Amino acid sequence: MACGEYGEGKMSEPLKIVDELNQFFLNQSQNKKFKALVTAGPTNEYIDPVRFITNKSSGKQGYELAKCLSKKGFDTTLISGPTNLEVEKDIKLIEVETADEMLLETQKNLPANVAVFSAAVADFKINKKYKEKIKKQVSLNLNLEKNVDILSYVSNHNSIRPELVIGFAAETDNVENNAETKLNNKNCDWIIANDVSNKKIGFNSDFNEVTIHYSDKNKEKLSYKKKSEISEEIVDRIITQIN
Ligand code: CTP
Repeated sequence: MACGEYGEGKMSEPLKIVDELNQFFLNQSQNKKFKALVTAGPTNEYIDPVRFITNKSSGKQGYELAKCLSKKGFDTTLISGPTNLEVEKDIKLIEVETADEMLLETQKNLPANVAVFSAAVADFKINKKYKEKIKKQVSLNLNLEKNVDILSYVSNHNSIRPELVIGFAAETDNVENNAETKLNNKNCDWIIANDVSNKKIGFNSDFNEVTIHYSDKNKEKLSYKKKSEISEEIVDRIITQIN
């Protein structure tokens, strides 16, 4: 087999292959005019020069989305917090660490036709970052202040708002209700919700299962599959929406 395994194999029907190729090149030429911006990964919020607060986001779903958008012809910018992932050279990768840096780069890289906010941005930053490494002490109180909500900021600024603004909702409970609330509060067009308490589809998994909540109140479940396949399905819907 082409994949290197031995044994009986079956090729897809030639007509199906031709259809796929035609669709691929059609998509590429149709979507060339579109620009996509994707945020992904966690952010690091520094306490002092060597310590920070972060979260468990792997960035995998966001990277897969960027890859798929680029493959389908979009001029794609990926603004990413720290991850271990590699990115194709067609994608413009901008590496950031903090939520403030992610906001700044997002502002610099708009306008776009579609923006997908899949980053797990830390909700808080340290109110006054220590300039020197903090020495060991009996106790330490940290003062946190809220980070700007990048998704809400972009959704609510008409001058930079892309035609299609998509957010994610990573929830551990009450997934549906929380997703609907985020869709309304953040003024975005779709919220893609997933249950991160489910180990099979959690932060570091290669698999996902999501429900897309649309602003017209419809919702659609994309059942358990690889994050790359979930991305294909999301990008197909993006293409239908903006073409
Ligand atoms: N988001 C963002 N900027 C932030 C916080 C969140 O852009 N400062 C975006 C995320 O990228 C995601 C969506 O908002 O698309 C929802 O993020 P999530 O962490 O699920 O929700 P929060 O708004 O942070 O609310 P909570 O932590 O209370 O669930």
